[in-house]
Amino acid sequence: MDALELVSHIPLFKGLSVQDKQRLTEIMRIQKVRAGEVLFRKGSEGTTLYIIQEGVVKIVLPSRLGDEMILTIFSAGDFFGEMALLDGKPRSADAIAVEPSRLLLLNRSDFLHFLTRNESAIIAIFSALSARLRKTDDLLEDASFLNIPARFAKKLIELGETFGKRSGDTMEISMRLTQKDLADMVGATRESINKELRVLREKGIVSLSGNLLKINDISLLKRRIR
Ligand code: CMP
Repeated sequence: MDALELVSHIPLFKGLSVQDKQRLTEIMRIQKVRAGEVLFRKGSEGTTLYIIQEGVVKIVLPSRLGDEMILTIFSAGDFFGEMALLDGKPRSADAIAVEPSRLLLLNRSDFLHFLTRNESAIIAIFSALSARLRKTDDLLEDASFLNIPARFAKKLIELGETFGKRSGDTMEISMRLTQKDLADMVGATRESINKELRVLREKGIVSLSGNLLKINDISLLKRRIR
């Protein structure tokens, strides 16, 4: 894929003229990272917008005791790091690669200049920020009103719908997520997720092999959300 085609595939850049896309390809940098590599930490200065061309990145709130809360997982076509660029404050969370990833980087002044020239990009940013706020509201709601088995079932279905392959009433999720990652996504301990996975496997609702998690019966898993 050439650089122009690559930019055309990114939702944030939809609606740009060919000249603007061409200009973006000239000013963006590329960064390749390994799985587990930290892109930035909460509290650091933010000077760059990141767009994922290939790979997976988790956005994490760290705690002083070493625990983590995974706010969201981003994949190809998603952008992150816009908050510090828009409000001039430090990074609001850590960003860590989950899979080997290839990222496109845009510096702050280029990003702000690009926004002032492109109404469609401003709307794309607002729309993404609204979607993220909604998802965070859901996370808060679930943490307040659902128990761990229900939260975990909901998260597995969401992961399957976002990153998995569906076939009938089954879904396959192939990602380097550890039990700790799964626990950090639903605000539970690794032990409680280990126990819940064992229950789900014993009931035949999910199966695990290496990085592949298979939901064998989506309807049965959904019944656990209440
Ligand atoms: P920034 O604050 O620059 O660095 C961390 C990034 O994580 C932030 O920009 C957003 O891109 C992203 N981020 C922070 N909080 C959330 C959230 N609740 N949902 C989705 N993405 C977030």
